[in-house]
Amino acid sequence: MTERFSADWLALRAPADRRARNPAVADAAAAWAAGLGRAPTVVDLGCGSGANLDCLAPVLPVGQVWHLVDHDRDLLDRAVARAGDQPAVSVATPVATDLSAALPLDLIGAADLVTAAALLDLVSAAWLDRLLSACRAAGTAVCFVLTVDGTVTWWPPDPDDETVAAAVRRHQACDKGFGPALGGDAVARLRRATEGWARAVAGASPWRLGAADAALQTALIDGYAVAAAEVIAEGDPADLLAIRTVDAWAVRRRRAIAAGHGGLTVGHCDVFACPSFAIP
Ligand SMILES: C[S@@+](CC[C@H](N)C(=O)[O-])C[C@H]1O[C@@H](n2cnc3c(N)ncnc32)[C@H](O)[C@@H]1O
Repeated sequence: MTERFSADWLALRAPADRRARNPAVADAAAAWAAGLGRAPTVVDLGCGSGANLDCLAPVLPVGQVWHLVDHDRDLLDRAVARAGDQPAVSVATPVATDLSAALPLDLIGAADLVTAAALLDLVSAAWLDRLLSACRAAGTAVCFVLTVDGTVTWWPPDPDDETVAAAVRRHQACDKGFGPALGGDAVARLRRATEGWARAVAGASPWRLGAADAALQTALIDGYAVAAAEVIAEGDPADLLAIRTVDAWAVRRRRAIAAGHGGLTVGHCDVFACPSFAIP
């Protein structure tokens, strides 16, 4: 079963994503692109409604060509429309494809840069390894941002935060269409795989959500409660105590937001890596 994301959810998270992106990683991508001596060709995997292009395009040279790839045609259309607002960018024919079925190896082989935002935690270890092998073989740089690292810290603390977090981590590791998902392990696997590349820069990009992010916090609490309940139901649907624990946790968390004193940090990591100095 493939994973669907609503345009509303992507719009809700976009401001937090933009704030969270690691500036040192963006600088590394910009410096690499400036050294290319020409405008880069970029492939955006799981582009959604185009938030990644919005943030990355302004640091890349004018004339860049983007190949937008997603299995959701509605999101792809939105991404193409949004790219029209970026003067430095031209968009090649968008690619509507299920990335779990096959990597777009022709695009990757011809690209200067492969990028993805908030995608790698959904994929399997084998899929990520295949993607990185293809990029390395082609000499294609990568910029993978906003990959969750599995850490969540709430304030004020609640006695059941860790119970819910553990269930959410188990849910993140369930199949999202690519086989068993990497979830919070994606960051470590990506960093290990790119360690030996000519250049690799990693930096934290946590969401820091406070009172001004009440809507996103509420959506996260709702999503975490549903995910935890699904994991509990898979293990023991009759475990009413666990289900009540999660429900009560969500009620307390929503109350804290309503009172204006709830917040959380969700750990993410950004990575830019280039396999070879020689290319180009
Ligand atoms: C969390 S969203 C991130 C979207 C966008 N990169 C952003 O930062 O807003 C993950 C994206 O991956 C896409 N996706 C998930 N599974 C996919 C698959 N099997 N093939 C192609 N795209 C997929 C979704 O449609 C969605 O747009």
